[in-house]
Amino acid sequence: MALNNEHIKWFRDSSPYIDAHRDRTFVICLTGDALRSANLKNIVSDCALLNSLGVRLILVFNGDSAILEALGDEWSLSGQHRITTPEQIETVTAVVGGKTHELAAMFAASSPDTPTALNKTRREVLTSSGSFVKARPIGIVDGIDFQNSGNVRKVQGDAIAAQLNNGAVVLVPPVGYSPSGEIFYLDAIQIACETACELNAEKLIFLTQHEGLLNEAGETINEVDLSHPEPALSTGTELLPFCHVACQQGVGRCHILSYDVDGALLEELFTRDGCGTQVVGHSYEQIRDATTDDVAGILRLISPLEDAGILVKRSRERLESEIDRFLVIERDGLLISCGALYPYHCSEKGGFGELACLVTHPDYRKSDRGDRLLESVEKRAREDGLSNLFVLTTQSAHWFQERGFVARDRDTLPQARQALYNDQRGSTVLVKPL
Ligand code: ARG
Repeated sequence: MALNNEHIKWFRDSSPYIDAHRDRTFVICLTGDALRSANLKNIVSDCALLNSLGVRLILVFNGDSAILEALGDEWSLSGQHRITTPEQIETVTAVVGGKTHELAAMFAASSPDTPTALNKTRREVLTSSGSFVKARPIGIVDGIDFQNSGNVRKVQGDAIAAQLNNGAVVLVPPVGYSPSGEIFYLDAIQIACETACELNAEKLIFLTQHEGLLNEAGETINEVDLSHPEPALSTGTELLPFCHVACQQGVGRCHILSYDVDGALLEELFTRDGCGTQVVGHSYEQIRDATTDDVAGILRLISPLEDAGILVKRSRERLESEIDRFLVIERDGLLISCGALYPYHCSEKGGFGELACLVTHPDYRKSDRGDRLLESVEKRAREDGLSNLFVLTTQSAHWFQERGFVARDRDTLPQARQALYNDQRGSTVLVKPL
């Protein structure tokens, strides 16, 4: 029987994330019209799957379209906020109460099917909801009284944590209560952000109408690093301030993805590159000097190329002793590129640096990782006072020539390196002045 190799690869690639997400707290916020999406059932069953993998899940939702349907245009909007009258808040609580029950019922119906031969008792997903959010009135702003529309005053983290400890998925509707017993309609995005901060969540995930944050050309941006200037966006600008707050308060990552795309949540969470936008306080991809902890990762990167005869074989011992010469790009714990610089200082020709072992993980070859690494190696060479960079290659001459390297005679190289030249390989010598 043929093996389903893709499935096996996918499962293996996702296993680091299965491990990383276990026992972590994720806050998922259903924004916009998510509750009406034809995909809602799949979202709920993917949430049930996350719950079964040990993720501590809080689902915050708005009921806006259902409330609007019940109240009509009288539920007016001023700026970003609804104005909710004391009469209207009754309808609001009835509608969101109904939505809470509908969601709970969907969870009950979507418990993962366990093969009965393996497990006699069907595992039901437990949901819990309650008065977890304390609110205060927005009050009167610019002469407009927002009445029973409020802001989050405090999320009762302990109460939510107790439910999570019980294994429940916690459902949080967009209402809150004041100490005096008044009920307020609240913004789900604000609740989600405050909840993530209060619970020290690992992730704050917004499910939105778009596939992520889109740039001006309408393409999904894969990652936004908040420590850099923000990219020009055509959507989602209202979410970024909340991501800022969350990242500042220690939430690991925020994610923005589509509520309409089946499987988006799983792809985002269990693949290295996701499918939506990841927003982080600091980039999770970095170029840095290699350390001895990277030896195994570098060997994994280079050995397929050594086996194919493209690189000259290096032993683990040699790699360990030369590890200081290596630079790596690490992406979420995985080494995806490496390269090394060997300096040759010779009096008659000036300093030469050999760029060696420049390798990028197959999944990232069509990206600019090689260029970024080359740039860093060049920088390091200049700092070392070298005036030329050279590379010996049997198969990648074009790539280097496109980047300013020129084919030269072997005797251009420093004597010490000429002596090591392997005639059998017949490598092309390429040199780039720095
Ligand atoms: N699966 C990983 C996580 O859950 C990485 C997701 C990366 N997503 C992205 N849009 N770059 O943290």
